[in-house]
Amino acid sequence: MSFDVKTFRRALGCFATGITVVTAAAHDGGEPFGVTVNSFASVSLDPPLVLFCLMRTSRLYENVVAARSFAINILSEDQGPLSMHFASSSSQRRWVGVAARFLEGGTPILEGCLAHFHCTTETIHEAGDHIIVIGRVQSLEWQTDGQPLLYVRGRYGRLADLFVPSADGSATTKTTTVVSGDAVAVGAGDAGQS
Ligand SMILES: Cc1cc2nc3c(=O)[nH]c(=O)nc-3n(C[C@H](O)[C@H](O)[C@H](O)COP(=O)(O)O)c2cc1C
Repeated sequence: MSFDVKTFRRALGCFATGITVVTAAAHDGGEPFGVTVNSFASVSLDPPLVLFCLMRTSRLYENVVAARSFAINILSEDQGPLSMHFASSSSQRRWVGVAARFLEGGTPILEGCLAHFHCTTETIHEAGDHIIVIGRVQSLEWQTDGQPLLYVRGRYGRLADLFVPSADGSATTKTTTVVSGDAVAVGAGDAGQS
């Protein structure tokens, strides 16, 4: 291997993602939990499956394995503070001041998200220092407007343009100008994506 973990992580950071918060009811009688996750991906349309990856060393590992259902909340552009909140291990089970409602069974849904998917755990795969959690979507809600919170190279950002590449690849057709794209630096632990 010709690279170290830090280099690998920085190279992966070139891949821009949205941000989600994965939430679940507590299995230990305590507070529900939320964890900031950008490794979310769609897997299958029929059946409806999605995935995310979780560090084995996460304090939430046991909770995720035990919780047979969870929600994936896709953050909107103004929810950077929520991303920071749920990326901090000291506040992943702190809900004071967080606008949320609770589904039957206690899974939290964050208010103001672009979409949420309520899932039952389909399978969990071991994958190096992470686990891959595959969820079967049982219900969902989504907004037709609003813009996503973005994450790239350890920084948060907003969509600047939406466009359709032209057929010959030489130009693009701008369809919408959304918001100017200033990135906001992340504080400690900014490497973020895991
Ligand atoms: C933008 C961003 C994306 C993240 N994505 C993931 C992820 O996909 N999987 C993961 O396990 N942790 C991810 N993290 C880290 C967790 O949110 C959290 O900081 C970490 O689990 C520390 O919690 P712990 O002290 O319980 O281990 C991400 C953090 C940030 C800021």
